[in-house]
Amino acid sequence: MVAYSAAEKLLTSKTVLVVDDEDQVREFIALSLSDMSSNVIEVNSVSSAKEVIENSDIDVVISDIAMPGNETGIDLLSWCRERDVPAPFILISGYVTPEAARFALSKGVQFVIHKPFKREQLQEAVMSSFVIRDSYGNLVERYVKEIERSNELFLATVDGFAAAVGARDGYTLEHSRQVSWLAVLLSKKLGLDEKFIRSAGIAGQLHDIGKIGVPERILLKREPLTRAEFSIMKTHAEKGAEILSPVPNLSDVTLAVRHHHERFDGKGYPDALSRSGIPLLARILAVCDAYSAMITERPYRSARPASAAREEIRNDRGKQFDPEIVDAFLSILEILAL
Ligand SMILES: [Fe+2]
Repeated sequence: MVAYSAAEKLLTSKTVLVVDDEDQVREFIALSLSDMSSNVIEVNSVSSAKEVIENSDIDVVISDIAMPGNETGIDLLSWCRERDVPAPFILISGYVTPEAARFALSKGVQFVIHKPFKREQLQEAVMSSFVIRDSYGNLVERYVKEIERSNELFLATVDGFAAAVGARDGYTLEHSRQVSWLAVLLSKKLGLDEKFIRSAGIAGQLHDIGKIGVPERILLKREPLTRAEFSIMKTHAEKGAEILSPVPNLSDVTLAVRHHHERFDGKGYPDALSRSGIPLLARILAVCDAYSAMITERPYRSARPASAAREEIRNDRGKQFDPEIVDAFLSILEILAL
């Protein structure tokens, strides 16, 4: 549970925009945040929300999905992302279809909360959304600056690397973003420190960077891979670590990239490590990676329902995945309503 003194500090003098057509819900949210010394602006439509965002600095947006008129909270989210509005975005809804949740996820929503929700749930979501923004949202920019400062010609930008994978395979780019923020949330849930959370954000984005070295005929193949092709595909974990190893201050990330396909029972690759022999960040990535892959549509198979993906993660508790990490992950999915 969140320490509310920390929440209070975090939200002091922050401006929160609440978008909901139901007066009672807006009032409840405003009341929930009232002891956090934040400035709450309430509006009842997407068009008024856009006006507020254009004219003032908003630190976090909390929006209902269904609203009168033809624009929804998801449209508002898309609109914000198109304009690079940096504020974290939290969606609330009475009912979220898995498709809507996935779409919102791909647009960078930080949280989806089901109605009715408790005050603590809202506060936890707001807190976590700031952690994501602070440790992930700006981390690429910050990291690029650090690298430029250290005069590393080898790695122009972390973003550039992620884009390089995405240029060959659109799936990997979107999937990597999803793994990145799931890994940030999970690290936060596990109580890990800021430095770790930052590494988790970067590692999620770069975990499949080694796919740059996999031929396109294998990477983009629609049919199942042959055994020989699969062994080439498997080299992406080592290749990724090789690509990143010369980068200063990235050793934790490099190690996690190398080991993100290890299994808790020791049957993974490339080094068949097991249990705590697998770096913690790699064990975290493994769960986020598997879940994100399952709920995403691929050319050769459709997306699995979130409930089936959750079940599979649960079944592999203690086999493919670290049991403690699975427990924390499933509790996060509950909050996210995924
Ligand atoms: Fe991978």
